[in-house]
Amino acid sequence: MAGGMIQSRSVAVVGAGSVGVAAASTMLVQKTASEILLVDKDASRAEGHAMDLMHGQALVGRADVRAASFADLAAAQVVVIAAGRNQKKGESRLDLLRGNAEIVTSIVEELDRHAPEAIVLVATNPVDILTRVAVKRSRRPAARIIGTGTTLDSARFRALIGAELGVSPRSIHAYVLGEHGDSQVPIWSQASFGGVKVDLDGTQRTRIADATRTAAREIIARKGYTDLAIGIVIAHLVRAILADERGVHPLTVPLEGQLDLRNVCMSMPCILGREGIMRVLEPKLDAEEVAALRTSAGVLQRAERAAGLA
Ligand SMILES: NC(=O)c1ccc[n+]([C@@H]2O[C@H](COP(=O)([O-])OP(=O)(O)OC[C@H]3O[C@@H](n4cnc5c(N)ncnc54)[C@H](O)[C@@H]3O)[C@@H](O)[C@H]2O)c1
Repeated sequence: MAGGMIQSRSVAVVGAGSVGVAAASTMLVQKTASEILLVDKDASRAEGHAMDLMHGQALVGRADVRAASFADLAAAQVVVIAAGRNQKKGESRLDLLRGNAEIVTSIVEELDRHAPEAIVLVATNPVDILTRVAVKRSRRPAARIIGTGTTLDSARFRALIGAELGVSPRSIHAYVLGEHGDSQVPIWSQASFGGVKVDLDGTQRTRIADATRTAAREIIARKGYTDLAIGIVIAHLVRAILADERGVHPLTVPLEGQLDLRNVCMSMPCILGREGIMRVLEPKLDAEEVAALRTSAGVLQRAERAAGLA
């Protein structure tokens, strides 16, 4: 867990459902911020969660957790968007597109009015297309709008590789890039630990890539939604922004010629700091991975067009 309280830091979470509250709870426990504001169209739900979390203060240290409205967000340095519908059993993330695009658009308009300087971190699915919607609808610079992208998938990927090798996942350097969804691309060519290439056979690779890709579906089949690991991911990214960490994270960003791709948002490794995305990295990939990432971009572009959002 990261160190002490970051002083005078205000974070807002829009959407106090399972994901938003898991993120708020992790941020409280990890002392990521001194103020956590919960905004939900169901104001009493936000209030109930804020009251519940406040009772943890005596044990974890003082932080102000409150239900809020958009008008209260002027001081928020980071605003997390976790509002909107989640997948039901058998649905893909792309099935959520139309409804959640309307929700994200209305939230981004409110944020431009009330928190124009904040870094916006989008978690609502399908996160890649909704990050693009947010970038197009907002007046803030694109570097200040980020999607959680394949950060969660990469965490799952590293956990599975670590388990296979008997090495801590924290020491595994490996990324899943492209869509946070079914066309995601595990980057085996660059997976390493301690400078040693991760050298697994085809069967092991297929098993790990499949388990990474279908993880959400498997969890939803059992508990109905996913929230805990994405809550940890969101808290981790918020801290990286507030502390100006400048670490590398696979995040949803607009591509501007990387892999010869444009007019699409999807995950590439990015350097993340206080001002948002500082640099989009273009790792050396093998030909199959490049082709798979172009296919992933095509999937996203077609879904965006089919929903009338392009
Ligand atoms: N990015 C990821 O890796 C990842 C992982 C898991 C879930 N998700 C996504 O996160 C989103 C939230 O999932 P959940 O399980 O928390 O859903 P949920 O139904 O538990 O919560 C959604 C909340 O959003 C609120 N809401 C809806 N419209 C709103 C608006 N216009 N303004 C303010 N609040 C509004 C609802 O009242 C509800 O409290 C889903 O789209 C889900 O697919 C993303």
